[in-house]
Amino acid sequence: SNKGEETLRAPICCVMGHVDTGKTKLLDCIRGTNVQEGEAGGITQQIGATYFPVENIRERTKELKADAKLNVPGLLVIDTPGHESFTNLRSHGSGLCDIAILVVNIMHGLEPQTIESLNLLRMRNTVFIVALNKIDRLYGWKAQPNKPVRKSLNQQSKDVQNEFDRRLIEVITQFKEQGLNTELYYKNKNMRETFSIVPTSAISGEGIPDLLLLLVQWSQKTMVEKLTFRNECTVLEVKVTKGHGTTIDVVLVNGMLHEGDQIDPIVTTIRALLTPHPMKELRVKGTYLHHKEIKAAQGIKITGKGLEHAIAGTGLYVVRRDDDLEEVKECAMQD
Ligand code: GTP
Ligand code: MG
Ligand code: NA
Repeated sequence: SNKGEETLRAPICCVMGHVDTGKTKLLDCIRGTNVQEGEAGGITQQIGATYFPVENIRERTKELKADAKLNVPGLLVIDTPGHESFTNLRSHGSGLCDIAILVVNIMHGLEPQTIESLNLLRMRNTVFIVALNKIDRLYGWKAQPNKPVRKSLNQQSKDVQNEFDRRLIEVITQFKEQGLNTELYYKNKNMRETFSIVPTSAISGEGIPDLLLLLVQWSQKTMVEKLTFRNECTVLEVKVTKGHGTTIDVVLVNGMLHEGDQIDPIVTTIRALLTPHPMKELRVKGTYLHHKEIKAAQGIKITGKGLEHAIAGTGLYVVRRDDDLEEVKECAMQD
């Protein structure tokens, strides 16, 4: 087995961009779910989290015949709202992630929240990949479901290819106006200086293999240091879950959680560690899997006493089970 697989944690990838560019729909397409159609007004209003096991990513990218090894256990993907009123959630999401997907609608180019998202990512030096989405909307497009995008583009008429090139160049120019170099990913010779663009369709699945492979390869190549285990956890939401009382949805960014672990600053014991099934969205009601322990990165629902005191957007600290809780409380009071 590959040594990297045991030591690296899953990278966290945040999906950002202007409202209705197709962020949730892209995730639906990868998961085989219908979360977007269940949203009020088709608008995302919360941060979501979905774990994609590496086996699914391998399956989804096999047509690209990538010889590079996938040595992360999976990818935790964070969905964020694009509506202008949710800047705080975008800021929280961008603060959590190792890498991001910035979704741009090929029919609209850069929009106000594209630029806002871009600046949030830049502020933290976060690497991102541009998904140039809705390519199926180009007039005359002939969908090649789930194909790598180069194959798909080669199958289009000359007119469609010209229209694609024209819009691509426009988007590259708009990024340039923001001070960023971007290039179609398979023409990008220097990923450290130039951001990659992956054309996609959340409806036909075209370009999804390319996007997934690029995400995983790029995280592995650049973030070995960051992806090594430590303990970090952050609260997304505090809410009542039927049958469990007040629960917290958290993202375990790094390290490990166990049932029975004591957590600070709420000072409580983890009663149960629940996750949605792989490829299911944490924020959507469903059945949960129970875990004795969980490794990062993962979106988790925690049950236990006193969780109504937790605050969304703040960190959680695991007090090691063999530590004396009183001692930790004293230390906390001294700061
Ligand atoms: P917010 O989370 O509210 O910011 O929106 P979003 O970026 O998550 O977009 P969403 O997934 O809600 O998609 C918005 C609309 O665009 C929906 O009607 C989708 O069906 C449609 N859509 C998304 N992606 C594509 C695509 O690739 N092609 C086409 N034709 N329609 C798409
Ligand atoms: Mg959405
Ligand atoms: Na939407």
